[in-house]
Amino acid sequence: MKSPQCHKCLCEYNRLTEARFWSRILMEHALFIQLGLAPNEEKLSAEAQRFVDLFDNLLNRLNKVKRLNPELLEELIEAVKAIIEFKAKVLRLIIQCKMRPGSNYPLLLDHIRREAERFLNLLTTPVAEDALTLLLQQEVFWLRIMKEHIEFIIHLLDPSERELLEQAHEFRKTFSRLLETARDLDSMAETSPGKFNDVIQFTKNVIQHTKQLSNFKAAAFELDEACKILGIIADPLLLDHVRREADKFLSELDELLPEVEKCYFGQVR
Ligand SMILES: [Fe+2]
Ligand SMILES: [Fe+2]
Repeated sequence: MKSPQCHKCLCEYNRLTEARFWSRILMEHALFIQLGLAPNEEKLSAEAQRFVDLFDNLLNRLNKVKRLNPELLEELIEAVKAIIEFKAKVLRLIIQCKMRPGSNYPLLLDHIRREAERFLNLLTTPVAEDALTLLLQQEVFWLRIMKEHIEFIIHLLDPSERELLEQAHEFRKTFSRLLETARDLDSMAETSPGKFNDVIQFTKNVIQHTKQLSNFKAAAFELDEACKILGIIADPLLLDHVRREADKFLSELDELLPEVEKCYFGQVR
């Protein structure tokens, strides 16, 4: 029998920590879009630069405050909504062939749009799901993100980088499989089981693979910084960015797994 405290998830997001993490991420997204634009897209480039400045400014202020006051929260929400619309606009223009994509993959634009949507949700919706639902939702969200990171890396490496490409293809297979399983488990959890040991085993597996992926990204970042990778990666910062997102996923799992273990682990009768 679950204790009453297990009915609601005890993990309350620290909004200020989230805001600092995501503001940096969103600032970098604007920079990546700018770097990927075709040279004649001056207006969009200026717009991207405004978002770099906007989130840089917000980040500086977030680093100085001790709590997220309502005015700053409101400003942040407006800024996130605006960058979501900017990403959607660039994606729409590319989909409709109204502009050349430069080196902005449509899926990358959709990927960073989804990341911003998630942050907006954290800022505007109270977290009151139960721990199992929350854990599985996070896994479905982040495993898709992790799989796409690998796909982007595959497309940015030079075809001659066969060793790295082979490792990346292995990761892609693993994360595609994990994502599919997470979606299945998430669907099964809709039946509100009192215990769900499989999810715990699965999450431990996810943690192990995500640590390996984080190490792979960190190693690729170091190689790129030292000019030891061939490819068309516009800035090594992209590799550090995706490594930080993997670590964010890990830290969320670290917080939620003990909660789920406490509430949803049961012995077989
Ligand atoms: Fe990102
Ligand atoms: Fe990402």
